[in-house]
Amino acid sequence: DMTQTIRVSSRTLNDLALITTGAFDPVQHFMTFDEARSIVEQLELPTGEVWPIPILLRTDDLPSDTDLTLVHGDAIVGSLRLTEGFRIPLREWAKKIYGTDDEKHPGVAAFYEAGPCAIAGEVEWHGRPASVAAAKTPPFRAVANGIDWLTAGEARAEIERRGWKRVAGFQTRNPIHRAHEYVLRVALEVSDGLLVHPLVGETKADDIPAAVRVRCYDALLSNYFPPDRILFTPLPAWMRYAGPREAVLHAIIRRNYGCTHFIVGRDHAGVGNYYGPYDAQKLVAAVSSRIGIEPILFDEVFYCFRCGGVASGKTCGHGSDNRLSLSGTEVRRRLREGHALPEEFTRPEVAAVLAEALREEVVIA
Ligand code: ADX
Repeated sequence: DMTQTIRVSSRTLNDLALITTGAFDPVQHFMTFDEARSIVEQLELPTGEVWPIPILLRTDDLPSDTDLTLVHGDAIVGSLRLTEGFRIPLREWAKKIYGTDDEKHPGVAAFYEAGPCAIAGEVEWHGRPASVAAAKTPPFRAVANGIDWLTAGEARAEIERRGWKRVAGFQTRNPIHRAHEYVLRVALEVSDGLLVHPLVGETKADDIPAAVRVRCYDALLSNYFPPDRILFTPLPAWMRYAGPREAVLHAIIRRNYGCTHFIVGRDHAGVGNYYGPYDAQKLVAAVSSRIGIEPILFDEVFYCFRCGGVASGKTCGHGSDNRLSLSGTEVRRRLREGHALPEEFTRPEVAAVLAEALREEVVIA
């Protein structure tokens, strides 16, 4: 007997992997209209748990069958037992999730482009997403059962095995620079271990590709950090650029991965000027006790030439004209023009990875 086939995007494929491996607990299926509306309007599931962003299987139209085969490219990736199909009030929900309905916002653009409908139901997943398998990682990688990323359960088991009680989680979507390194060190000083958990799903076109970033993280970690204090594994999630709400999603995922603490710095999951630099911290702090993970909050971190090191306004008494700050755009411009990145900004081992990636024309203009 034939079942109806639904083509799913690579974003949906990543959501499918996370839903079915416990990263999104307590969410274990693609959401219904009532669940999504409750989240959009009240930041919680109908059952009362905090949840910030609907997890939706988006489609162009509504299927006629209930037993659906999920296809990505030429592979069958899973199946869904349909309970409900619905249309999405795109602009209204975009405003509440992203704080804007402006299609220039990359998360809003992706939200609009994914199709006007969504289908809900229990899902099964048949394998690991190709986008993740492609992000091959060097020796620092934590490998379990020969796979490329750890599921929530695998990470929790590894944390248990290492005997860590106080574990800080770190989300990133950018190549690791000195500010990130500083945040990692400060958190590690007061923790048993660190989950370095870079997001490797879809990002906006001008972010550095995940495979290059994973090489950057590996270069930093293997050259500067004690291996037994770091658990390094990529997370196959995609960026929404939803600022505060996405920071809450990031925190929930890291709770599920066994972290007791979660790092939130300046403009977490932000883009452009859509969010205030500390809006994400405020929302995470407001819901953290309900989520069950404690935030570690950082003010903006920079390199200060007078301090001769990385600091923040909390620890540096010098003026802003002593600070090095390079925007992502400026970093990409320098790399494109073949200039070295200053050591105050990025470790040479990381700069070398970026320069090499640019030579291979992996880094995009
Ligand atoms: S994010 O989209 O994943 O938040 P990014 O990889 O740049 O982007 O940031 C990872 C984490 O480091 C976030 O918590 C962010 O707030 C923090 N962060 C990045 N750069 C700085 C900085 N210069 N000062 C303070 N925190 C920072």
